[in-house]
Amino acid sequence: MSVLPALVAGVGLAAASAVAGALDAIEVEPLAGAVRHTERTEPLHALADAHDVSVGVAIGTSSIDEIEERVLLAHHFDIVTLENELKWEVVHPAPGEFDFSRSDELIDFAETHGMAVRGHTLVWHRQLPTWLDDRPMTAQQASALLERHITEVVGHHAGRIDQWDVVNEPFADDGSGLRPSVWLDTIGPEYVAMAFEHAHAADPGARLFLNDYDGWNGAKYVQLVDLAADLLADGVPVHGAGFQLHLAGSLDVEMIVEQVRRAERLGLEVAFTEVDDRSPAPMTDTIRRAQADRIGALARTCAASPACRSFVVWGLSDGHSWIPEHFPGEVPGTLFDAELAPTPAFHAVAAAFTSPSHTGRS
Ligand code: XIL
Repeated sequence: MSVLPALVAGVGLAAASAVAGALDAIEVEPLAGAVRHTERTEPLHALADAHDVSVGVAIGTSSIDEIEERVLLAHHFDIVTLENELKWEVVHPAPGEFDFSRSDELIDFAETHGMAVRGHTLVWHRQLPTWLDDRPMTAQQASALLERHITEVVGHHAGRIDQWDVVNEPFADDGSGLRPSVWLDTIGPEYVAMAFEHAHAADPGARLFLNDYDGWNGAKYVQLVDLAADLLADGVPVHGAGFQLHLAGSLDVEMIVEQVRRAERLGLEVAFTEVDDRSPAPMTDTIRRAQADRIGALARTCAASPACRSFVVWGLSDGHSWIPEHFPGEVPGTLFDAELAPTPAFHAVAAAFTSPSHTGRS
């Protein structure tokens, strides 16, 4: 166990007192498991380097509480997405009041470990503060509020957040186009371009994404790439298309490949932003293998595409996943199980990024 002091220091507990305290608190068995895993296993991000892909997970402040979580995060990943810490209800709790304590804490952790950060998200119809619901606004007031929010949030983190999901889930579930929301209803469709302009002005170095889930066999990804094309034609600073990829037991990989290629032809970067795979409980070995097949196929798709530069799983482990709360009766599939042991999907992703690099790929 002589490895422990160096290891603990190396996972971001910088202050000596924190290290001492943490060592006292260590539960040797789970930590030993994480240590053994990392000693024996090549970091995923090192494997994916050959494909110019950053590999990561979404994290919240509770994902960095335990030392074994920090060990796994620091070892495997070179990018993290802030799962909830930049959403309106967290950062903008009252009119004109901003709270960046949680985002700053996670970004400090990411920077300590050389990880890039995806900012999520500036414009979304969910997780809005209640004060916003109750506020009637003219188009002008809504535009001013959107500008203020984006300028404050992107400006506060300028230079520390590499990519932003500027507009999240903009499309309606019935296929009718842009989804009704406070922004569409007050400002109109121009809210999308406005959001990108304000984000770019606040941090000209950040890469700016539109992000959505598939919806009816990929139709939303088609709409996403169409909208990005229109924005580009209008000179709006949009840099990427984010495909969430919350799978639910099936995957049409050809559809994904086709939309990735369309994005690539437009000169857009692609990010697989929220990969996971849920199934009705209980978890079985068969489900684990099927999840591994699908998540592995996504990783191979990203590895094979020059445009795909980020592969992010939604949650460090099944124990950190949003699925049980949001889809009662279903079990999540991520890269680590609830005990932080690697799942078959972990091995499938490692195998996908171990395949020959695509230098000269078409
Ligand atoms: C989820 C978080 O994981 C949960 O903790 C939260 O309660 C609700 O939001 N698509 C998105 C993410 O873009 O922001 C969502 O995250 C999952 C679906």
